[in-house]
Amino acid sequence: MLTLDQHKGNRHMRAAVLGGGPGGLNFAISLKLRNAAHDVLVIERNKPDDTFGWGVVLSDETLGNLHSNDPVSSKTIRDSFVYWDDIAVHYRGTTMRSGGHGFSGIGRKRLLNILQERAHSLGVTIEFETEAGPVDSYRDYDIVVGADGVNSRVRAAHADAFRPDIDVRVCKYIWLGTHQKFDDAFTFIFEETQYGWIWVHAYQFDAEIATFIVECSESTWHRAGFDRMNVEETIAVCEAIFAKYLGDHRLMSNARHLRGSAWLNFNRVLCERWSHNNVVLLGDAAATAHFSVGSGSKLAMESAIALANYLDSEPDIQSAFRRYEDERRLEVLRLQNAARNSTEWFEDVERYFDLDPVQFNYSLLTRSQRISHENLRQRDPQWLSSAEKWFEKKATGRTPNSSRPPMFVPFRVRGLELANRVCVSPMAQYRAKDGTPNEWHFVHYAERAKGGAGLVFTEMTCVSPEGRISPGCTGLYAPEHEKTWKGIVDFVHRETDAKIAIQLGHSGAKGSTQLGWEEADAPLTAGNWPVLAPSSVAWSPQNQLPREMSRSDMDKIRGEFVHSAEMAARIGFDWLELHYAHGYLMSSFITPLTNRRTDEYGGSLENRMRFPLEVYCAVRKAWPDDKPISVRISAHDWVGPDGVRPQDAVGIARILAEAGVDLIDVSAGQTSIRARPVYGRMFQTPFSDRIRNEAGVATLAVGNIYEPDHVNSILMAGRADLVCLARPHLSDPYWTLHAAADLRYEGVSWPKPYWPGRDQLYRLKSRAEALTRKV
Ligand SMILES: Cc1cc2nc3c(=O)[nH]c(=O)nc-3n(C[C@H](O)[C@H](O)[C@H](O)COP(=O)(O)OP(=O)(O)OC[C@H]3O[C@@H](n4cnc5c(N)ncnc54)[C@H](O)[C@@H]3O)c2cc1C
Ligand SMILES: Cc1cc2nc3c(=O)[nH]c(=O)nc-3n(C[C@H](O)[C@H](O)[C@H](O)COP(=O)(O)O)c2cc1C
Repeated sequence: MLTLDQHKGNRHMRAAVLGGGPGGLNFAISLKLRNAAHDVLVIERNKPDDTFGWGVVLSDETLGNLHSNDPVSSKTIRDSFVYWDDIAVHYRGTTMRSGGHGFSGIGRKRLLNILQERAHSLGVTIEFETEAGPVDSYRDYDIVVGADGVNSRVRAAHADAFRPDIDVRVCKYIWLGTHQKFDDAFTFIFEETQYGWIWVHAYQFDAEIATFIVECSESTWHRAGFDRMNVEETIAVCEAIFAKYLGDHRLMSNARHLRGSAWLNFNRVLCERWSHNNVVLLGDAAATAHFSVGSGSKLAMESAIALANYLDSEPDIQSAFRRYEDERRLEVLRLQNAARNSTEWFEDVERYFDLDPVQFNYSLLTRSQRISHENLRQRDPQWLSSAEKWFEKKATGRTPNSSRPPMFVPFRVRGLELANRVCVSPMAQYRAKDGTPNEWHFVHYAERAKGGAGLVFTEMTCVSPEGRISPGCTGLYAPEHEKTWKGIVDFVHRETDAKIAIQLGHSGAKGSTQLGWEEADAPLTAGNWPVLAPSSVAWSPQNQLPREMSRSDMDKIRGEFVHSAEMAARIGFDWLELHYAHGYLMSSFITPLTNRRTDEYGGSLENRMRFPLEVYCAVRKAWPDDKPISVRISAHDWVGPDGVRPQDAVGIARILAEAGVDLIDVSAGQTSIRARPVYGRMFQTPFSDRIRNEAGVATLAVGNIYEPDHVNSILMAGRADLVCLARPHLSDPYWTLHAAADLRYEGVSWPKPYWPGRDQLYRLKSRAEALTRKV
């Protein structure tokens, strides 16, 4: 086989491209542009004018990339584009419209014809109406490119090398077209029918025709009888459902060649490897992106350019393939992640049908998590401002004159009002002695309360000496605890606008362990105390075996929680949180991983919740009626079906909410050493979203949330009611005040002695902004 070194020494390369879609054709063009001597053959089973699908969406960025690669074809593509800026959402009798989104569309057939012509002009041979032969039959070629689409035979032929992972997603969709105009906006239509919700993604792609993709859940699809219909019958039903959006226009299919109903399930394709010997995969054959982010053709064409580039820049074919796999794959994975979020949003959309149209629209626009609150402000400041006003009015009942960021909108629950929606998450300090807080705690909590957060949680404060995690944990079971906590709470109330919450917990099998910065969760080197748990299951092989709790143990512990709650009420804490997460005692009742009981406290979820619920009810009675109680749970054990999964967490939240819990604080994990968590930005927020919108209970979101933009997006999209930040508050007690300054929001209250610092900070920020604008 030839090496690229040889081709650079004026030898040409022979490339067989199997599949003449956007990926294959753009690769052929790109390769020829880099060396006209290359011999490129494209095999395509369709005729030049055949096509499935309708319009292709490309962003300005992709057009820029196409232009740098080939100004000639990209100019013709640009000349054939339809541009639009708005996204319109029809939902529950309203139409929400926002601007600044900047898309362009072109007919797939037109795009392919442009690429075919360009390829011809560069000397590429295209054999239409030719079925590609087995990969081995191209062994005379230096490279064989599998650009044969989502059902790639090339990929299948070497499945053991490429190791594809194909995830068949649950929604059903069909590509249709219409002469009705959707030329002023990318349009989403959500219709409630007698069969369930059915929705449409519609966009214009030339002067005459718009793409009209109809999608629904599989159960709706069966109820509507689409599974038993041919294309004509499907079209008739869709025309009736969407008549008011279609005017007098019909829906059309150009997939009549497909067998059956032409409805599809999206196949998410990932491959562990993209190349094998001289065979390389490209476009949908290697990786697909859901049509709701409009990026299938973009991915294919940009990967084609990347592959041609590496074949040109690298010394030999294998190193070109390696760079293509290493570097291009990262880009593709990023887009596939965004596409997965978007796919899941549509799969779960029924969860959002109780949202107000403004929030529904916001949730839709931010579904891929690539567009944040401030991105939306840049795109359409007016729309975002109206959405922020809606948010504030919903919370306060008053229509504001000017908008403010959602994080600074007050939150009311029972008789309590928080000045804003940022919370200092509970964080163990491991600085107490015999459970008693000291100067460390005073300074720590006072500083965070001065820092502007609406609510400051204490660390997990234990209801008994044995219920402590470590010897450094705070408690609330002795008179000196009550006295010292009162000093802290009084300061917070006297000097700041913050409210303060006590988090009460019992360590269970994870008790009698070392301080956080020692070997966390490992037994003490000396002075261990006996631990108890719902079942005699040790946290890890090195931890002691807990004693299985008897009914009288339960009575005792319930009494301890009540006793601590009474103390907290006397001290004047504003809020009480029960720590039912992270593998501690109550959490170990809830998760089946550690609850092996065969009595009425083990087995079904209802049984596993029985004791935690009993404790909550007893605490609720001891806690003032006008003050809220939240419960922190682990919404995911991260161990698969043996443990709690997010869908089970909805059940847990429902049981708690029905008993009167005001908010669920949605954390995850730390319930098993087997856990394999998937971390990332805002990684636990989807669980909060699910619980809030499926169980209909207010939530706090937490976990790797660290920017004001994250907080505003979460709140505005209805993914949580409050947002907790833990580690960001360790590095910056004034996180909230600083966030307000970053957003130029002046409605937060600074401690009076710090006003000169506040004024300087705002002045410096404005000056820096003015300078950036000038540059
Ligand atoms: C029904 C349908 C409609 C779509 N419509 C749109 C749309 O309107 N807009 C959009 O952006 N995306 C659309 N897509 C997605 C889009 O096809 C891909 O994301 C994108 O085109 C990827 O480009 P590609 O070149 O990798 O694959 P494809 O575009 O799928 O091209 C693969 C090509 O290989 C050919 N081929 C496959 N097997 C063989 C073989 N054995 N022998 C010879 N030739 C073969 C096929 O005929 C095809 O032309 C659609 C997908 C489907 C399934
Ligand atoms: C030092 C430290 C101590 C923590 N202690 C507690 C605790 O006492 N109770 C609790 O519920 N969570 C505790 N957590 C978890 C945090 O409240 C939070 O859920 C987690 O750190 C994720 O948020 P972050 O990404 O903002 O840090 C602790 C976290 C840290 C970093």
